[in-house]
Amino acid sequence: MPAHLITGAGSGIGAALARRLLGRGDQVVLLARDAGRARAIAESLPGSSAIVGDLAQPGRLSWALSKQALPERLDSVIHVAGVVDLGPVADIPATLWEHQLAVNLVGPAELTRLLLPLLRVSRGHVVFVNSGAGLHAHAGWSAYAASKHGLKALADSLRAEEGENGIRVTSIYPGRTATPMQERVHQQEGRAYEPDRFIAADSVATTILTALDLPEDAVLTDLTVRPKP
Ligand SMILES: NC(=O)c1ccc[n+]([C@@H]2O[C@H](COP(=O)([O-])OP(=O)(O)OC[C@H]3O[C@@H](n4cnc5c(N)ncnc54)[C@H](OP(=O)(O)O)[C@@H]3O)[C@@H](O)[C@H]2O)c1
Repeated sequence: MPAHLITGAGSGIGAALARRLLGRGDQVVLLARDAGRARAIAESLPGSSAIVGDLAQPGRLSWALSKQALPERLDSVIHVAGVVDLGPVADIPATLWEHQLAVNLVGPAELTRLLLPLLRVSRGHVVFVNSGAGLHAHAGWSAYAASKHGLKALADSLRAEEGENGIRVTSIYPGRTATPMQERVHQQEGRAYEPDRFIAADSVATTILTALDLPEDAVLTDLTVRPKP
């Protein structure tokens, strides 16, 4: 049975993806930010197991993972966790830049580095859930968009470096998706939240599965998925 490590499975897109993978009998290991969240998320996703690692502290991930049992094989690592804080460059303090860059970019880079030996053995797949903001930066989105532009660069470099080891790398660029994150974005934008206008988290999960399930002779490098007009 294929084994996957997923970040961000506590809600939204990551939770939808974890449910789909568990539903078809795959092995799912979740990365949660602390022991309490690990217990709660694993309980909400029967059949899954959890490890603890705070993406907001990339420099501590190596120590955290060295203290926990990792799966014996890993066919994919799917980076879904993310945070967003909007605001004009004139107002965003360094702490908010640092937090978004840590969780959305440096954490995924470090986690990938630590798991590459396992992925090389299985000639596995690394999926990064990016964002439309990883391709275009709009007013008010600087720190988040910078982290996601960086995540695209991470994916592109990784694909070029690890192709010879059989590792496939995919970036997914969703538009606005109906999740707790989008609800928070609407609060920050001061707008009423109408989830029906946006992509369902399950549709983004389907997009990720499309990339994962492609036969091994091909790789979907970049996939954009938008709400229907
Ligand atoms: N929603 C959208 O409109 C949209 C659009 C484009 C791209 N995206 C991207 O899609 C991904 C998933 O977003 P979502 O909308 O599903 O968001 P969400 O519902 O807010 O879920 C985010 C997940 O990230 C986890 N996380 C946050 N900080 C973490 C940390 N320090 N360490 C470990 N895990 C952490 C959260 O853990 P807890 O459960 O413990 O809080 C949660 O499980 C993100 O990368 C986001 O940038 C979302």
